[in-house]
Amino acid sequence: AAIHLTDYAPPQWRIEHVDLCFQLDPVDTRVRSRLQLRRAVSQEAPLVLQGEELKLINLTVDGEPVAPGNLQQDEGSLTLHELPAQCTLEMETAISPEANTALSGLYVSGGNFCTQCEAEGFRRITWFLDRPDVMTLFTVRLEADKDRFPVLLSNGNLADAGDLPEGRHYAVWHDPFPKPSYLFALVAGDLVCQQDRFTTCSGREVDLRIYVQRHNLDKCDHAMRSLKKSMRWDEDTYGREYDLDIYMIVAVDDFNMGAMENKGLNVFNSKYVLARPDTATDDDFVAIESVIAHEYFHNWSGNRVTCRDWFQLSLKEGLTVFRDQEFTADQSLRAVKRIGDVQRLRSLQFPEDAGPMAHPVRPQSYIEINNFYTMTVYEKGAEVVRMIQTLVGREGFRRGLDLYFERHDGQAVTTDDFVKAMEDANARDLRRFRRWYDQAGTPVLDVAGEYDETNQSYRLTVRQSCPPSQGQSEKLPFHIPLTLALLDSQGREIPLRLEGESQATPGERVIELTAPDHVLVFRDVPEAPVPSLLRGFSAPVKLKFPYTSEELAFLMGHDTDDFNRWEAGQQFAVQMLQGQIAHIQAGREPTLDPLFQEAFARVLDNDTLDPALVAEALTLPGETYLAEQMEVVDVDAIHQARQFTRRALGQALAARFRAVYDALQDTQGMDAAAMGRRRLRNLCLAYLCAAEDANAQALAEAQYQSADNMTDAMGALRALMDCPGEIQERSLAHFEARWREEPLVLDKWFGLQATASAPGALDRIRRLMQHPGFSIRNPNRVRAVLGAFAMANPVHFHAADGSGYELITDQVLELDALNPQIAARLVTSLSRWKRFDEQRQGLMRACLERIVAHPGLSRDVYEIASRSLG
Ligand code: ARG
Ligand code: ZN
Repeated sequence: AAIHLTDYAPPQWRIEHVDLCFQLDPVDTRVRSRLQLRRAVSQEAPLVLQGEELKLINLTVDGEPVAPGNLQQDEGSLTLHELPAQCTLEMETAISPEANTALSGLYVSGGNFCTQCEAEGFRRITWFLDRPDVMTLFTVRLEADKDRFPVLLSNGNLADAGDLPEGRHYAVWHDPFPKPSYLFALVAGDLVCQQDRFTTCSGREVDLRIYVQRHNLDKCDHAMRSLKKSMRWDEDTYGREYDLDIYMIVAVDDFNMGAMENKGLNVFNSKYVLARPDTATDDDFVAIESVIAHEYFHNWSGNRVTCRDWFQLSLKEGLTVFRDQEFTADQSLRAVKRIGDVQRLRSLQFPEDAGPMAHPVRPQSYIEINNFYTMTVYEKGAEVVRMIQTLVGREGFRRGLDLYFERHDGQAVTTDDFVKAMEDANARDLRRFRRWYDQAGTPVLDVAGEYDETNQSYRLTVRQSCPPSQGQSEKLPFHIPLTLALLDSQGREIPLRLEGESQATPGERVIELTAPDHVLVFRDVPEAPVPSLLRGFSAPVKLKFPYTSEELAFLMGHDTDDFNRWEAGQQFAVQMLQGQIAHIQAGREPTLDPLFQEAFARVLDNDTLDPALVAEALTLPGETYLAEQMEVVDVDAIHQARQFTRRALGQALAARFRAVYDALQDTQGMDAAAMGRRRLRNLCLAYLCAAEDANAQALAEAQYQSADNMTDAMGALRALMDCPGEIQERSLAHFEARWREEPLVLDKWFGLQATASAPGALDRIRRLMQHPGFSIRNPNRVRAVLGAFAMANPVHFHAADGSGYELITDQVLELDALNPQIAARLVTSLSRWKRFDEQRQGLMRACLERIVAHPGLSRDVYEIASRSLG
């Protein structure tokens, strides 16, 4: 049942206009649709419409019933034969939004109607050509009970509204831009809105509205501010202006993903809208700003120019993630943003790219497209766009983007069209570069350096390779931008003159690697340099260079590239932790490298650095990132080594952590600087608590009790999770009582306990699932408990007796019957079974086999589980 990119064929029919009329009712909604059809090919062709879970009530063509022989209904499709080349098809279908637990199509959340149509949810609303290259003008009429559903929304501009008999009312919306069905949305419910205005660069007045349930109206300010910032930024940075009279955002509590860019009517997971300093952490505030921006930016990169087919998903997602990353970088410290994005890529996308679900940024085939909304399509896709910018320069990139929008406005196109626009605008050849879209796997760069004192030259040899992945045993060389500098012993950048060049250039260089091997010879190098390689993470690769500890300590303190200074510290930490892991595995005591401690302390004491950067530098690599570096993952040894190092640093540097903690008393404000101070202060607290010091626990409790913002409350609670006992329990109980009525805040409470490393995790998870607030139907709650346990509690999820695997497997199967998309996400936690010891391998495989054998399994879960088994 797999779908292949190579099978793509243009649509044989177009839907020029659709009139939809919804009689909204939670259990029995009627959808009338009138499609204006035009055949797109010259010879006779059947019309094959998609539909799922629909009851067809009535159908006519040009007002007449269709002869039974010309109408054929199958599982998932409705075929009409012998249609005139141009005709009007009218249908009525019945659906039950309340029974829709998959949260795809039209469903009910918190008593209100909402929709999610990407990728293929529209076919759960009515029969349609549910593919992104069919672009249609939509007119939508909504009718519902006025008391229960006073607000009726859809895409575009409001054309008409009024009352109907029997306490009902209606609204008519018209969207002047043709769009694919996946961008359709409707919302109906008892909602209130925060309103604002925006004047675009050309003077258009836009009505901005954020719709929420009444009790959340006091949590919309930040989202509104973010929206206005995004609109201005896209005008200033990329010349993109908004194009409708109104822009609406609706927050719903039950949502499979983060948010959805429906034209003029974004529907959001409430997690990415609602925030007040006392209910949301700084990370939440930043995430909200970035998701609001992301969905807004889609109006151009996604809606005005959309995808030809779902294999091109990264066309809009990779580009839009890149755009939202740049937006966030411009709002705060660029290096901090870059560090966060690279951590995410390396701890989540690299494993995906090295496992059974590995796929190219443009996949070749899929069974269920919802499984391909992945870190690879989104985050690696954004890295690919970023590399193009690095290769053609910022100005060249802007030229390319302008050309892309100009050329393809109103079209459904491919990633190739995007690269072509970049090539044409810059007179560049990116043929080899395109391999980034088609080859899966993370390339490896093996680099070595050799200094020749007599000739004053430095020779760098670079070899690239890429491990095989499913269906791709041999990889062709990638086109890789390698940004580098050479540092002298004072930490200054040595001017670079490559062999054959007549003049040296100051600063860093972008070297373009296109072959398997490169030899770079730098001339006039007065002393043995320390290379600063892959600056700013100029390509999504694994870099290997045999740095000594001394060199890493030097780079940690001196590299002129902020990102690489951080990276040196991470590499140093990885080297040390790997040594400790080996010790633990051999039954010996781990030790803390004094050179590391010294370099670490120097960063802590450096008060010229921005606190946010200090905090990043002092955060040890995560357990999943460490796991990636091991031949056979040993979750226990990794956890022990990391905890040992945290405790040892906390003890050795207690006075300094305390001093920095005390010096950062000024934690007021919601600007980036205040966030940085809170970040560093909470990090100090975490180290102090990791040292298991009773004073530190009291300090954490005091911080928890006096906190007037969620960042400090959570910072204290998280620090206390390292020290089980009365204070911890008291604080958790207080938190629960205080925030029982706020689902997004309660999710934090669930998540904290689901990821706790203290013994007894399984009972804890079971207890959390018995909690009256737990619901398997709410994706945020499932992620907070089961997702957090499976993805962020490695020690207990991978318990040697298999109990963690069994628990997740039971839940996957239960969830699959309700919401296959969420169930499938959970299965990925089992997919990398080959990375573990034999016993765990067997246990995980047995669980995957149990899943695959389960009757009535969804396509979503089947695809992940069967691919994992190989
Ligand atoms: N296009 C949305 C975004 O990235 C994601 C929607 C994906 N939904 C899904 N069910 N696969 O902003
Ligand atoms: Zn997106």
